[in-house]
Formats: sequence, structure tokens, C-alpha cells
Amino acid sequence: LCKTGGRTLNHKMTNQRYPTTRMRRVRQSDWSRRLVAENSLSVDDLIWPVFVTEGTGQSVDVASMPGVQRHSVDRLVEQVKQAADLGIPAIAIFPETDPSLKTDDAAEAWNPDNLVCRTVAAIKAAVPSVGIICDVALDPYTSHGQDGLVRDGKVVNDESVAALCDQAVVQAKAGCDIIAPSDMMDGRIGEIRMALDQEGCEDVMVMSYAAKYASAFYGPFRDAIGSKSNLSTGNVDGGGKKTYQMNPANTDVAMREVALDLDEGADMVMVKPGMPYLDIVRRVKEQFAVPTFAYQVSGEYAMLNAAAINGWLDREAVMMESLVGFKRAGCDGILTYFAIDAAKSLAQ
Ligand code: PBG
Repeated sequence: LCKTGGRTLNHKMTNQRYPTTRMRRVRQSDWSRRLVAENSLSVDDLIWPVFVTEGTGQSVDVASMPGVQRHSVDRLVEQVKQAADLGIPAIAIFPETDPSLKTDDAAEAWNPDNLVCRTVAAIKAAVPSVGIICDVALDPYTSHGQDGLVRDGKVVNDESVAALCDQAVVQAKAGCDIIAPSDMMDGRIGEIRMALDQEGCEDVMVMSYAAKYASAFYGPFRDAIGSKSNLSTGNVDGGGKKTYQMNPANTDVAMREVALDLDEGADMVMVKPGMPYLDIVRRVKEQFAVPTFAYQVSGEYAMLNAAAINGWLDREAVMMESLVGFKRAGCDGILTYFAIDAAKSLAQ
């Protein structure tokens, strides 16, 4: 009889061979754990969202996003060079618009010389190897902070879509590679695609924020671009975005949104937020088999960092675990504020 720790195990007394299957065998060493790993994170999976502000020589901390700063164009160019050196394929640019330029009609959004367009041009000139993604939505430019135009206290659809087309065209002409509509108006992907094609920008890609939820996890982002106070002082739709962004309780509508956006010409689709919506990522990837991305949004970044700062979580470990979780769910790539740190970690 084989005794283990003074205790006779049942299967050994009865000569059963259980457990013949020992799940722990392949987990016993680092090399065998790596050998049987199904998913891995690579620097090629990372998209880095960045905030740009006016001025020169400016780098200002975003209080609710420790480690994240808004940079003036000159500083941002330096940051993007670093990202390129690390091998990060693409960045996504978000502007903090001067409050004096915010209006009800969001006209600054289609000013060909606005902050985003100047940033795109500067980065294209200095770091041509990095892909540039621009958000299409009116919230950085509206006095009410909504993503669309407001008439009689409501965010109107079709008129907003026309404005979004103008915004997309100036961004594309400035050199943007991927137009990423995040506004959730109906029919905007098709109209933007046609507007781009009419303007000779048929090679510009469209990454649709197809399944975007009305989420409280966007809070720190709204601090970063300075749209939070605009939203809360506005009386439009109760200061929220629930009439266009999706209800967190739903999954079927996400499938319909993705289907429509693909039908209208989207090249890639995105699910947003990320970690609480990995079930949506999985369903999208399985059903449509198209390039699928998720956005680990500002609030997800904020909560992991807040816990790490308190010593409650290991920042490096939860960063890498959360990112490989996106891969496991079926993502082809992840928009994450951890992009630089994750790329450094992967390079070690
Ligand atoms: C703009 C936009 C938002 C985010 C990306 N594009 C905020 C919003 O919809 O209110 C959020 C990103 C983040 O939280 O990191 N429409």
C-alpha cells in the first residue's frame, strides 16, 4: 500500500488508476505552461489611446487616470515615437478642446485646422510608421457634451450623421488612417463610408464602435477631454447618452448593431467597454468572424490603478491578466491606456 502523508488514498487501496488524468502535470513548470498556452498577448495587439491639448511643452496629468497625461502636439509626437519604437501598431487620438471653441453646432469638429487635424498631420510627418485612429463623435466640440446635435432637447439622428460625415472627411484629409465613429447614431457608418469615398478617401479604413454601451466606466475619459461638466449641466436626455448608447442589460442588440455596421461597410468592429463585456466580444467574434476589438476604457484603467496605488492589487500582474483576457475572449486587438507599459513588459 502506498501511503501519502500518513493517509491511505482510496484509489490506491482499490488498485484504481484514478487519477490517470492529472490536470496539474502540464502546469508544473514555466516552460510547460508556456508550451500549452492557447492565447498570448503581443505588442501587435495594442492600440494606445492618447489625449492631446493646445499649447507647446505641455504634459498635464489626468487626475482620475494615474499615469495618463494630456500632451500638447509637440510632446505627443515624442510620446508616439516611443510607442513606435516599442512596436505599437496604432494610436487613437482624443482632443481636449478649448472651452471657447465648444458650440451647440460643434462646428470646430469639421474645421480642417482643428486640434485633432493638426495632431494627425504632425504625427504622420514625424512618425509615419504608426497607424492613426480618429474618433468620430461631436462630444469634444459640443457645449452640451452630447455626441450628436440637439434639437428641442433631443439628440437628433440624421442631422448629426451629416455633421459626423464632415468631421470624418477633415480627419481623413489630415492623414488619419482609421476613422472610428463612436457616436452610435443610426446609419452613420454607411453615410461616412460614402462621404469618404466621394472625397477620394476610399483607402481610409472604418473601425466602428459598433457595440457601445451607455456606461459609467467612461467617467475619467470625460474628465480628460473636459466634457463631463458640459454633459451634467446640459438638460439633454438627462445628461446621459442612453438614447443612443446601448443598455448594459442587452446582448442581441449588439449583434444587430454589428451586423448593420458591417453591412454599411465597417472594416473592423469594436466592443466598448471591455472587461465587463467580454461575453459580447465572444459572441461577435463567433458570429461574424471579422476583425474585432475591445476598448478597455478609462474607468477600467482607473479602477485597476486605484487598487494598485492602495497596494491592493499588483499593477503589472492585473494589467497583463486583463489584457490576455481580451485575447481569450476573441479580440484581435485592444485599445488600452496600458499600451506603453504592456509593450515594455512584453519586450522584457
Ligand atoms: C466619445 C467617446 C467616449 C469614449 C471614447 N469616445 C466617451 C463617451 O462616449 O462618453 C470613452 C473612452 C474611455 O472611457 O476611455 N463618444
